[in-house]
Amino acid sequence: MPNVHVESDLYMSRILFASSEAHPLVKTGGLADVSGSLPPALAALGEEVRLVLPAYRSVLDRLRRQLKNVASLTLPGLKEPVAILEARLPETKIPVWLVHSPIHFDRVGAPYAASNGRDWNDNPNRFATFCRVVTELACDRAGLQWRPDVVHCNDWQSGLVPALLALETTRPATIFTIHNLAYQGQFPAEVFDELALPEALWTMHGVEFYGQLSFIKGGLACADWITTVSPTYAAEIRTAQFGYGLEGLLSHRATRLRGILNGCDYRVWDPRQDSLLPQNFDRDNLSGKAANKQALQQHFALPTQAEVPLIGLVGRLVEQKGIDLVIQALPELLERAQVALVGTGDAKAEAQLRQLAERYPGRLGLFLGYDEALAHLVEAGADLFLMPSRFEPCGLNQLYSLRYGTLPVVRRTGGLADTVVDATPANLENGSATGFVFDTASAAAMGQAVHRALDLWPDSERWQQLMRTGMAQDFSWEQSARDYQALYREAIAARPGG
Ligand code: ADP
Ligand code: GLC
Repeated sequence: MPNVHVESDLYMSRILFASSEAHPLVKTGGLADVSGSLPPALAALGEEVRLVLPAYRSVLDRLRRQLKNVASLTLPGLKEPVAILEARLPETKIPVWLVHSPIHFDRVGAPYAASNGRDWNDNPNRFATFCRVVTELACDRAGLQWRPDVVHCNDWQSGLVPALLALETTRPATIFTIHNLAYQGQFPAEVFDELALPEALWTMHGVEFYGQLSFIKGGLACADWITTVSPTYAAEIRTAQFGYGLEGLLSHRATRLRGILNGCDYRVWDPRQDSLLPQNFDRDNLSGKAANKQALQQHFALPTQAEVPLIGLVGRLVEQKGIDLVIQALPELLERAQVALVGTGDAKAEAQLRQLAERYPGRLGLFLGYDEALAHLVEAGADLFLMPSRFEPCGLNQLYSLRYGTLPVVRRTGGLADTVVDATPANLENGSATGFVFDTASAAAMGQAVHRALDLWPDSERWQQLMRTGMAQDFSWEQSARDYQALYREAIAARPGG
């Protein structure tokens, strides 16, 4: 019998993890959760991981006292050199390299958009700079004496990295993870010239996509391996409905495309130890959940009635998430339940929700904004959690809901289909049910699923059975990290010139 531990020790590798956001430093959505959790999970398995992020002003402010300037790079076309600043990812030992190019990242506003919500005009320059720097780090050309075996890129903001690395003779293996194919980093052809990218990349096998520059295509066409964040989404993006014209390329690369489900970071999202909750609880002691429900009701000035079911929703208020279906169904749902909704997004959706909140005081609690602590309270205090997404690469909130005993009501797509077991009579009988799943993206189908849940509500024994089954599910990062680790091994073994 081979000694597995010794074998795996021998194979530990150096991973450079490139992302445009990472919790708790900077977050607009689930990508940050993944980038804050997967690197430490890989490190726990023995991998040597470094995270590279743009040095946004908020990140500089947060880490100011521990930053060390460790390198400086001169890039073609840039007047100022780019500094590499080093720090640690808070609460972990993971080194973080910040790409400090002040004209690109040291400004007031969100990572991709100004305070008025509009994307920054110079996003192509900003993220091309990021990609060039990651490429230099990947080839150990910044004088840092650290040569990774694998560069793991995430979403369009790091999409040019596999393309740039494909032009190198000796390079690390490249993995590109799709967190959301809807965001592609697509710009007019002139931008390609403005960025002075290598001519060799302007082909249909590189970053050219129907005459435009596509950052994400650099990752999809050139990475050694492509992954996405659930097995079902990995299949969906190979169809015209979910592929945005990239389904052909993704089908062509099907043997190099894998779906690895995201994990849930139970260090942050576990009702047993969540310090943001008024009261902790767990599967063996559900009574503490009542205090959270009460706190949530009080927060939104909803009557503190334990017997009225409370539906929660947290998320980006955009078409992807089916917020229009929720808006359509709300008046009817509010006849049977209270609703607590937290999110930001489309101006139209926000305005409609504001009107509904005015029309239904004491039934609909609404916070239009970003509030991490409130998101935890909704997960803990609600009885049901609504996620009627049109598509959902993985989705993290349903994983949080399962752990918090808040039954998810989800559409059967992407990671939602892979993580929630519908309360059909058979699944209720065999004890596998964890939530409510519906198929059609319509307010009626969603409403029916919610009504199925509300019909079960009075049967507290059954309800608690579902809660307990959901809370017992294990979506910890360890398994996902093992799957990535296995993929890294394969990619390293096959790397060209490595
Ligand atoms: P996506 O990445 O598509 O937005 P996910 O479900 O993967 O969806 O992750 C969303 C993450 O962002 C979750 O951690 C969720 O709690 C958080 N989040 C989204 N909107 C808000 C908000 N308005 N306030 C607090 N947290 C939010
Ligand atoms: C994206 C997806 C979401 C996924 C997250 C993290 O933002 O929309 O489904 O959970 O990335 O991978």
